[in-house]
Amino acid sequence: IRKITTHTLQKMKDNGEKISMLTAYDFSFAQLFDNAGIDVILVGDSASNVMAGHETTLPITLDQMIYHASSVIRAVKRSLVVVDLPFGSYQSNPQIALASSIRIMKETGAHAIKLEGGEEVLESIKNIVSAGIPVMAHLGLTPQSIYKFGTYNVRAKHEAEANKLKRDALLIQEAGCFAVVLEKIPATLAKEVTASLHIPTIGIGAGKYCDGQVLVMHDMLGINTEFRPRFLRQYLNLQEQITNAVQQYIIDIKHEDFPNEQESY
Ligand code: KIV
Ligand code: NA
Repeated sequence: IRKITTHTLQKMKDNGEKISMLTAYDFSFAQLFDNAGIDVILVGDSASNVMAGHETTLPITLDQMIYHASSVIRAVKRSLVVVDLPFGSYQSNPQIALASSIRIMKETGAHAIKLEGGEEVLESIKNIVSAGIPVMAHLGLTPQSIYKFGTYNVRAKHEAEANKLKRDALLIQEAGCFAVVLEKIPATLAKEVTASLHIPTIGIGAGKYCDGQVLVMHDMLGINTEFRPRFLRQYLNLQEQITNAVQQYIIDIKHEDFPNEQESY
């Protein structure tokens, strides 16, 4: 199998081929997604929400991200695996950011890391890239800053914030990032940023002009159907299917239908 690398993604942008990315946090789903042909698997700090049940991404630790990433890596043969640096593991200074990134690369075998922010984390990006570790940036609605934003509403709707985002995009490219996630910003702004950069942009709630798209697996598979922002396309209703399956299992046990003779030794 031909493995996807950061260079593959650059070629895809250059050739106008869209990049597909999906989150995964464990071995079994990562194996399914890799076999299905997904280009990039993101071990997102959204694990804090969908795996651990926290309300925000802030509580998840570097050790916990490493556990998820190790499980994912053991399953993957072709996809590029990117791991989020969790809140608190890089903001303090570039040395800490590099130390956290090195732990992820050494202890999981992942191919790249992702962090949130632009100008604020520029020195950290440069430090990590200097060590030979590919860095994906993340701009717009950056969930680790949710208490600064106060809401999960669309970001950069107005000029000042849009201008900062455009500047940040150029800065992180200059610092050596191989790609950038644009989260929940106007499609017109994402289009402008995508055209202004030579590196690929991956959108989530950022419209059709990005070079690729990403969704959280639990959202697109309909495992949690409470979360329904307009950018989400739900490809399955696993909540319904799993509920039905579990209820049938319960009924079969109560009615002494399961296990039957053929299912017994
Ligand atoms: O943690 C995550 O799942 C992410 C994606 C939404 C981009 O950062
Ligand atoms: Na994330």
